[in-house]
Order: sequence, then C-alpha cells, then structure tokens
Amino acid sequence: MDANQIRQKFLNFQVKKGHKIIQPAPLVLENDPTTLFTGSGMQPLLPYLLGKEHPEGTRLADSQPSMRLQDIEDVGDPRHTTVFEMLGNWSLGDYFKEEQIRNFFEFLTKEVGLDPAKIYVTCFIGNEEYDIPKDTEAAKIWQKVFSEAGIEAKIAEIGSAADGDRRGIKPGERIFFYDDHENWWSRGGGCETTPIGDPCGPDSEVFYDFGEELQDEAKYGLAHPASDGARFMEIGNQVFMQYRRNEDGTFSELAKKNVDFGGGLERIAAAAIGSFDVFKISLMKPIIDKLEEISGKKYDNNTDEMRVIADHIRGAYLLAAQGLTPSNKTQGYAMRRLIRRAILRALDLGISANFLAEIVPIVAENYKELPDSILTHRESALDVLLKEENVFRKTLNKGLKELNKMNKRILSGYDLFKLQDTYGFPLELSVEECYREGIELTKNYREEFEEALREQRERSQTASKGMFKGGLEDHGEQTVKYHTACHLLLAALQKLISPDIVQKGSNITADRVRFDFNLDHKMTPEEIAAVENQVNEWVEADLPVVFDEYEKAYARDTLRAHGQFWDKYPEILKVYTIGDFDNPISREVCGGPHVEHTGVLGHFKVKKEESSSAGVRRIKAILEEK
Ligand code: ALA
Repeated sequence: MDANQIRQKFLNFQVKKGHKIIQPAPLVLENDPTTLFTGSGMQPLLPYLLGKEHPEGTRLADSQPSMRLQDIEDVGDPRHTTVFEMLGNWSLGDYFKEEQIRNFFEFLTKEVGLDPAKIYVTCFIGNEEYDIPKDTEAAKIWQKVFSEAGIEAKIAEIGSAADGDRRGIKPGERIFFYDDHENWWSRGGGCETTPIGDPCGPDSEVFYDFGEELQDEAKYGLAHPASDGARFMEIGNQVFMQYRRNEDGTFSELAKKNVDFGGGLERIAAAAIGSFDVFKISLMKPIIDKLEEISGKKYDNNTDEMRVIADHIRGAYLLAAQGLTPSNKTQGYAMRRLIRRAILRALDLGISANFLAEIVPIVAENYKELPDSILTHRESALDVLLKEENVFRKTLNKGLKELNKMNKRILSGYDLFKLQDTYGFPLELSVEECYREGIELTKNYREEFEEALREQRERSQTASKGMFKGGLEDHGEQTVKYHTACHLLLAALQKLISPDIVQKGSNITADRVRFDFNLDHKMTPEEIAAVENQVNEWVEADLPVVFDEYEKAYARDTLRAHGQFWDKYPEILKVYTIGDFDNPISREVCGGPHVEHTGVLGHFKVKKEESSSAGVRRIKAILEEK
C-alpha cells in the first residue's frame, strides 16, 4: 500500500467512524503570527479546541501538510523531514480516550495491515508540580485492546528517556509511562514550556518496532520507545487535550475534553512497507531514483545528501505551489533557505548544473492528490523555483570566487561578513564551504560577524540617529545604564499595570529615557509611584544582567523572551535576562549593550507621564546619583 492510498484509507475510515473531512489549511496561516508555518493538524483548529463551535460538528478529520523547520538539522537521518503530512482526527468534546485508542489501533492493524505485535505505546506518568494525574486510564485501555488482539501487554514505569536508555525493555512490556518531556503535548513542548493560553494535555504515542538489530546500543543505550535509536519510530500521537495553560502558569481543565490525533503519513507508509527509512516510500523514492540518475551516485553511499535534497525540494515545492515566493524575510526566507541548502547538498554530490527542472515535476506528481484549495499555484510553482535556482547559482559562483580569492587559511567573522554584505553569500553557506574546503574559521567568528553587522547597521542608521537598537544614541556608560533601566521599566509596567503592555518605542540619551507603551488610560500618581518603587527595588537588589544567543524558536517558545518583531528577527538572536535565570524579572530580545548588574543604575525617577498618540503613553524618566 503506498502513501497516497494510506491517506485515502485514513480519510475513508474516519468518515466511517462519523467524522467530517475538512480542508487542510495552507502552510502559511494568515491569522497566526506564532509560528512561521503550520506545524501540526491542530494548529488551524486552536479556537475550536478551546471551545468554539465548529460548523462541521464535533468529529473532524483531514490530512494536513505541515512543516517543522526546527527539525532542519536532523534531516539526513532515516526519519526526520521538515515537511510531512499529518493525518489528523479530532473529537471536540465528543468521544475520548477509549474510542480514539480503539479506532487508531483498528486503522493500523486492519486497514494498513500492520502486525499488532510490532506496535508499542507510551502514556503520561503524571506531574506532581502541576497536579496532573498519571494516565492509568489510557494504559488500561491499551491493555484491553492488545489483549483482544491476543497480546498480553505489560506496563513499564520509565520516567525520563534517559532512564529508559539505562533500563531498556523487560519481557512482555509494551506500554510505557514517561514524563512530560515525552508524553505531554502542547505547541511549546512539556508542562513547563506550554504556551500561556494554549490547549494541551497528556498524550499517548504509538510506535512501530522495526527490529532489535537497528538499536545502536553503544550510541543510544538500551532500546525502548523513546530512545533515539532507530528501532522504534513514532507513527502517531493521540493527545487528550483537556487542559489549558493559565496566565499564572498553572493548568485548568477545559469545559470540554478533546482528542487531537496526529499521525505521520510518511512514517505510517514506511511502517507499511517495513522500511525504517522514510525516504524509501512512494512519495520519496522517485526523487531519490532521479538523484541517483543525475549524480551517477548510489543512495546507499550518499544518504545524507539525497535525503536533505529530497526533503527540501518537497518543502520548497509545497510553498511555491501555495503561492509563496523566495525573499529575504520570514516565510520567504525559509523557502529560500530550503532551496539553497538543497542546491548546496547537490554540489556535494557533484551536481553543479541546474537540476530542479528534473526533480520538481516528480514532486509535483507526488503531490497531485493534495487538494487544489491549498495548492492554488501549481502552474507557476516550477517557474518560481527555477528562477530562484538561477539567482542562487549566480550568487554562489560569485561568492565562491571571492572566498577563494581571499586566499587565506583562516577566515574571520569580518571576512564572512564581507562575503555576505558585498556578494550576498550568506554566512551559513560560507561556513559550510569553509568546512568543505578545509579552511579554518576563527574561534569567535560568530561574534566577529555580529560585531561587523552591528557596526554596519550603526553606519547605515546615522540618518535616523537614535532609532536603532532600542533607541540608543550612543554606547556611553550613562546611556547604557538608561538602556537597562528601560528593560526594568517595561518589566515593572507589565507586572504592576498590565501584562499586555509592550514597548511602542524608546529614545535614550545620556540624560534621560523616553519610553512609549500601550495603555488605555493616564497613569495615576499611585501607579507611577508603584512602578518607580518597583524599579528601584530591583536596582537595590543588584540583579545580574546576562545575555546569550539563541535560536529564535527557542527564545520565543521556551525562554519566552519578550519581543515584538518576531517575524522580522534573524534566526539567531540575542536575549538579555535580568535576575534569576530560571525565574527572571525581565527577559527581552535585544541587541544590547547593558550594564552587568542593576546596582550601578542609581535612583530611578519618572519625570513625566503623558500621551504620545492614541492608546500610547510616554514616560520620561531619569537616573539620579545615589
Ligand atoms: N498535535 C499533536 C502532534 O503534533 C497530535 O503530535
């Protein structure tokens, strides 16, 4: 059974079970600024999972093309892809654990024909800190379902994946309890990192066993479902979405309990053909065959490169077929990156001429069963991709020439910046090219690159002096203190006046800070005094101010840094934290610089609070010598 057939079977099966098939959403969701791309089937359904009535009823299903760029570095192994289809079904306050578990098991074993003896499952062990109970209910249902299939399934208490690596599987064990890093689902991961306001809950994941011999014990420890080894592959996840994260970090039960099921089409298709390598399935193999033909090289000896190329071109095609074009920002940049990475990997295979014209039609053919409602630009997709290939080929040739012209054995971040700034040869590509050519990079090349970038920005911003990087006019000592005071002021406003307050602008000189923020009323003298006192308390406490660089998604979703222009930020950004790292009083995306300890600021005093524009207030404040 091939992947297209499995998709159709799944949808038919869900209709049989009373579900309405809904149209999948586009990869770029119009009203969701929280992620670049639709990363799961539930994302377009968020309002309904939180209680809103869905026009199609309480039982829904679809197959949702999804993209998770956070997995981009993992592409190259047998199972990770940035783009995949998620088979989904939902109960909006309708059926719950038993019906879901039974249905999915029936689908896998009866419709797809998987051997039940190769299926292993996991459940949530509970979390005391957040008062979330252990999901014995799901485990018991699984025991029953397996027993009806003639399998006696024993339950194992594991805890963390690391515990599992040490413990492994004892005879007869098939149902495994793990902590919230494995068996809790929210868009942000475990309990601690669940985004405020999001629906979430314990989940029960389903794994396919591709055979003991695949577990590399020396590398991954003993085999168990949540191991990184290749023996087990997750093929579906049933989230019992019954909670919502509150503003104060706790969890409340939703009025209606939902099921959010997501199954990886490509992975189920791999299980169906007994291949632990998803790049062998019908949606992938023709691409790999073509790459073998063009390069004259064998897949078995070049798995990494061919997997990356196949994955990235699939992703780029899906985006192009949805009307996106490559650009230098947000989704367009991600698309550009996919195409460029694919072309670079092809270079590694010795493919130095344009080749997308041969691959893209194969991808398009594979995707011909996806609905026209999302692939609205099938006709122009090839052209868009070919154009980008040409542009990049030119950039590449010029950049490579310049890189080699530099004729140095060690390149610094300043050199790499020059390549990007003058020749449009991106940093990552320089790094990869240096690696390939055995050219060394200075240890601090990233800092040097950042510094060069900063200097260049400063040069180019003299026209709008004082408007760059948090509105700093210069980097003098007093100005830097005011910059840190600005972060404390925002934190105090958010804490005492409203958590919805964001910075609307700022202007900092060596003599004062001017800070604009959203608020619907004139601040009372009491409010102003409270904010002043709070800032001064933090100054007195002499809190540490630290920064580091992080990936954007990590900074936003895990660290929950405050930032306003997520879609404009670069992929790697700087985050400043004030106070205890795990429980900071302020955490902002910011270029800096800042003081190292708040104690040096002096006494904070608000001089004026006035209207700046509709709904925006302006505070002018100074720091006085103590
Ligand atoms: N939303 C769940 C997931 O992405 C099903 O795994």
